Amino acid sequence: MLTITPRTPPVSSRLPNVGTTIFTVMSALAQQHGAVNLGQGFPDFDCDPRLLQAVEQAMRSGLNQYPPMAGVPALREAVAEKVDRLYGRAYDPANEVTITAGATQAILTAILAVVHPGDEVIVLEPCYDSYVPNIELAGGKVVRVALTAGTFRPDFQAIAAAIGPRTRAIVINTPHNPSATVWTRADLDRLATLLRPTDVLLIADEVYEHMVYDGVSHASAASHPELAARAMVVSSFGKTYHVTGWKVGYMLAPRALSDEFRKVHQFNVFTVNTPVQHGLAQYMRDPTPYLELPAFYQRKRDLFRDGLSSTRLRLLPSQGTYFQCVDYSAVSQLDETGFCRWLTTEIGVAAIPLAAFYEDGRNRNLARFCFAKRDETLHAALERLSAL
Ligand SMILES: Cc1ncc(COP(=O)(O)O)c(C=O)c1O
Repeated sequence: MLTITPRTPPVSSRLPNVGTTIFTVMSALAQQHGAVNLGQGFPDFDCDPRLLQAVEQAMRSGLNQYPPMAGVPALREAVAEKVDRLYGRAYDPANEVTITAGATQAILTAILAVVHPGDEVIVLEPCYDSYVPNIELAGGKVVRVALTAGTFRPDFQAIAAAIGPRTRAIVINTPHNPSATVWTRADLDRLATLLRPTDVLLIADEVYEHMVYDGVSHASAASHPELAARAMVVSSFGKTYHVTGWKVGYMLAPRALSDEFRKVHQFNVFTVNTPVQHGLAQYMRDPTPYLELPAFYQRKRDLFRDGLSSTRLRLLPSQGTYFQCVDYSAVSQLDETGFCRWLTTEIGVAAIPLAAFYEDGRNRNLARFCFAKRDETLHAALERLSAL
């Protein structure tokens, strides 16, 4: 009898450079050493019980089958209303608002929808870790432009120099993970001027749109008519409503771009969780939760910064997001990964090395903490960090 040895054929990786991320590594290390985990970016507190009730009610009332491909109409309308109120642009909920399985899927879908093999896409480093693999999956060529060293402001000269005949899109992120900087209206104007003579599209990752501090308003690409006309603007309910595990977000774009986006979305996820969409639509009727979010997080930011001010860690500004970066040069000679490991295992607080957000992985003596945590978690971390 013929013996057959089952064999898995080898595959040539589409993403040969992707391995286990530092986020996973640091979280595992934090757990192993009982460290306070300020590494991964998500809250350690629960969402508003009214949101849970709204989702539960949707489930119990039988809203459990496929919704329309682009999202539940009531939720698209709620999003369009919010965006109009805050940013003064009226997106048509029928054709220009699409509900996605989180911002991650929205960004991948946006890139797959518009990037052809060989097209160049500009990313501003340091950047969120999904952009580069997304561009590579689309067959695009990643063009990295560094944010200004030290300040993390966009370097418009360098962006201008990077734009060429093959540039299809630029990805921006404001408020910015990991640096916690925000773009100003003047920044949007400068970008608009650069893009004006080109057909370059804008992918604006604005998942932290409701976390901008010190009385500053978020400068959304949606609020800038010239940019909005060429932009796919992405946001995340997970960040805004403390439900990162639900993976629901949205994408706003003019009809022509939304049409292309939806062609990919349709065969990518097709639809997004029905009862969660209904629950969010109901919950969004009250704007208070997102309007109060800046004050909610600003208090946590200030608590965390005050606590760190007596240490030798140098605090970088935190204008938005729920991150706080520090320069630890006065505390340690270790490189960023070494420092974050040491901080986790010896001091008992996990952080993320900034090198994780750069291709070169070079040491800059910077680490990122997440302050989206209960006050007692922040106090526990500060007590340990006070030794530094
Ligand atoms: C800059 C940025 N973009 C996108 C995402 C992903 O958002 P979502 O959880 O909605 O997929 C994150 C999450 O950390 C992020 O920091």
